[in-house]
Amino acid sequence: MQDDPIPTLAMPDGNEVPVLGQGTWNMGEKASEAKREIESLHTGLDLGMTLIDTAEMYAEGGAEKIVGEAIRGRRDEVYLVSKVYPWNASRKGTIEACENSLSRMGTDRIDLYLLHWRGNHPLAETVEAFETLKAQGKIGQWGVSNFDTDDMEELLGVPAGKNVAANQVLYNLGRRGIEFDLLPWCQEHNIPVMAYSPIEQGRIINHPEIIRIAKANQATPAQLALAFLLERDRVIAIPKTSNAARVAENRDAVSLDISDEDLAALDAAFPPPSRKKPLEML
Ligand SMILES: NC(=O)c1ccc[n+]([C@@H]2O[C@H](COP(=O)([O-])OP(=O)(O)OC[C@H]3O[C@@H](n4cnc5c(N)ncnc54)[C@H](OP(=O)(O)O)[C@@H]3O)[C@@H](O)[C@H]2O)c1
Repeated sequence: MQDDPIPTLAMPDGNEVPVLGQGTWNMGEKASEAKREIESLHTGLDLGMTLIDTAEMYAEGGAEKIVGEAIRGRRDEVYLVSKVYPWNASRKGTIEACENSLSRMGTDRIDLYLLHWRGNHPLAETVEAFETLKAQGKIGQWGVSNFDTDDMEELLGVPAGKNVAANQVLYNLGRRGIEFDLLPWCQEHNIPVMAYSPIEQGRIINHPEIIRIAKANQATPAQLALAFLLERDRVIAIPKTSNAARVAENRDAVSLDISDEDLAALDAAFPPPSRKKPLEML
């Protein structure tokens, strides 16, 4: 294993990114964990998981500092994603928040900068700030997170809203609501979906049906949960682990092809949605 390259997808600006990246929520909380966290991010980079997802929220800037350490000297290998808090997402606040994130990460560019979730600042203001950051070269592209289909429709209606380059949402086997309309909508509009909490923060790997199917494929439950997402068009999964061995395990999910029979068994255990459900958030 680890011989299969990680498939890539083209972002709306043509940048190729791996469909399996690395999350960082909960990193940077404890100084005693920093070494392990940096090591696990390095392992992921070495294995081709070069998309790193972080946010000003995580450990109140602590995760961005860990990311900064991990990418030092390797910035050009990395597709860097960070997020602005909704309450900072005013015309001026977005710029300030971005500059603070850049300085914590010791870089002059975030490749993809997301609005973490919708708040009270008008979308038009946030988008205007994102476009300013783009023109200044501080970000490559911008996107959103936790936006449901109606939010996306509204976004497309604001000036430059059509430049949205991604929507990061909760998506895993146990949370398939987006398959009803948001995922097809994003696919039709060529907007990549970043699946967060792809193994449901570790909870889903204890499900008996996942354990059974994984075992039958000589795979681990985490690999099966990730492989399920990697089967989908225009979906990027961003599992988080601070354990280098688990990074390698997760990376090997790209080598698992789920048979039609196993997909049917997964559908039986985790039925796809038959009607619209509001987008869930963690
Ligand atoms: N935009 C948003 O609102 C939003 C919300 C949530 C998350 N996110 C992003 O998405 C990323 C991933 O989501 P997440 O961190 O919530 O959950 P996740 O990736 O589904 O799960 C992370 C948890 O699973 C454990 N884990 C990882 N790989 C494992 C494996 N192979 N075997 C057993 N346990 C494993 C990790 O523990 P160890 O670290 O101890 O291995 C950690 O506790 C976040 O880190 C963040 O970057 C975004």
